This record gives sequence, C-alpha cells and structure tokens, in this order.
Amino acid sequence: MSAIGHIRRITVPDIAARKGGERIVCLTAYTALTARLVDPFVDILLVGDSLGMVLYGFETTLPVTLDMMVLHGASVVRGSEHACVVIDLPFASYQRSPRSAFRAAATAMAGTGCAAVKLEGGVEMAETVAFLAARGIPVLGHVGLQPQSVMKTGGYRARGKTEKEAARLLADAKAIADAGAFALVIEGTVEPVARRITTEVAIPTIGIGASPACDGQVLVTEDLAGLTPGVSPRFVKRYADLGRDLAAAAESFARDVREGNFPQPEHCYGAGRDSPAPFRKGPGKHAGER
Ligand code: KIV
Repeated sequence: MSAIGHIRRITVPDIAARKGGERIVCLTAYTALTARLVDPFVDILLVGDSLGMVLYGFETTLPVTLDMMVLHGASVVRGSEHACVVIDLPFASYQRSPRSAFRAAATAMAGTGCAAVKLEGGVEMAETVAFLAARGIPVLGHVGLQPQSVMKTGGYRARGKTEKEAARLLADAKAIADAGAFALVIEGTVEPVARRITTEVAIPTIGIGASPACDGQVLVTEDLAGLTPGVSPRFVKRYADLGRDLAAAAESFARDVREGNFPQPEHCYGAGRDSPAPFRKGPGKHAGER
C-alpha cells in the first residue's frame, strides 16, 4: 500500500507480487460515482477505453481520445482511495512510437494521478513497453482480443482457436512480460491458451473471457450491474439488474408527475400539510385546461 497524504492505495508492486497468490479483483470505472461505489471491493479500478462504447455510444473504442481518458481518469482517482487506478491509453495515442507512447502515458499520469497505464498489443509493442517501464511508467499489458484492432482483425471473436494463433498469443504474452509490464490482461482467449499463458509468464494475468486459472479477473462494471442493454457476451456474469430498476424508477417518476403526485409537501420548502392543490392525488391538468 502507498501512503500519499492520508490516502492509502494498493500499489503497482502490490499487484505484481500477487502472481500465483491472492486473486486480483478488477472492475472498470469511468466516473467518480461508480469509483466510489466499487472501490472498497476491488484491487484495480480500470478506466477502460470501453467507456467510448458504454458511456458515449460509439460502436468501437476507436473514437476515444486521450482528453476523454484524462477527464474520466481524474474523476475516478477523485472518487477512490483504496484501489490502484489504471488508465487505458486510447487508440492512436501510443502505437506510432515509444516516444509518442511516453508522451501519452505521461499526460495520462500527470493529468489524473493514476498509478499506471494499459496498452494493447503483443510482440510489436514490446519495445514500447520496455521504453515506458525503463522511464518509470508502469504498464499493464493487454493481449488476446484487442478491441482497438477490430478493424484489422474483423470482429470480437475469441482468439487462440488454431495452433498458429495460440503460439502467436503465447509469444505476445511473453514479449510483453519480458519487456517489463507488471501484469497482463488476457481478453477473449480460449481457456486452455489463457491457462497456458498464465503458467508460462512470470507476471500476474487478469482474465476477461479467458480462464479461471488467471491470477485475477476483470469485468466492465456496467455489464456486471446489468446496465448495458441487449444480450451479454458469454463471459459476462450479471450480478444485478440495475438497468431494469432504473427504467422502472423513471417510469414511476413519470407517472407521479403526470398524475400530480410529485412533489408532495415533504419534497418542498415551506409547504405545510394544509397546502392547497396541486398537493393532491389524481390526474394533472390536461392540455388546454386552466
Ligand atoms: O476497456 C476496457 O474496459 C478493457 C477491459 C475490458 C479489460 O480493456
């Protein structure tokens, strides 16, 4: 744990030391509100670029900018005090060169107070990971299904189904671990391959659609809470149905307003029990009624 001022947080070395030990719990958070709610229960709060799809309604993560990540990252840091906060470097902010990655990572860290950055990629990003790690920037790797590459790979199918793909994934994971990443997200990868990667790399793995053998697991909080509409991917377990509850609350509010049942005196300043209408039950005014 780090002691910066009065805040005691889980640190990057704490996470790195969890290889083969106590499982790492990671959830996404994009806002101070969500961070505050889930922070006591997790080891890592990941400000994922999935916010582009979940919060902003983009079809992919590609339109997400570094400015967006910094605003949301700072919000999550403000809303938390326990978890290690990691911020995704968005598409096109780091792929060009190790130097561009350093600039993006430094902007993210200085602008938010986060502990580390995450970037997608395997063998081709190893040089960049080494460049950052050597300059004091802790990197969480991300191999397997890489949402920032969907235009190249053609979709969100699970990776590692062929021997060739499995060998490539293993090489990717080893390259990122050897380059100095402190941990590795494995996304959308067939179970035996994710298990093998976990056995063969020296750093903790954090799975999503991967394997229970991983050293930790991550989910998108809105998926787990039942806030994302439509059919969930196979790897999501819904622990609540907050989307249904929120819609029901909005429907009740709309009915109360339309029927003149909200607000009541207890929701108003200076209104007594004997206040006149519209503190009454029953339908409100109709169009044209005076
Ligand atoms: O962007 C994100 O939320 C992620 C997780 C799904 C690992 O990268």
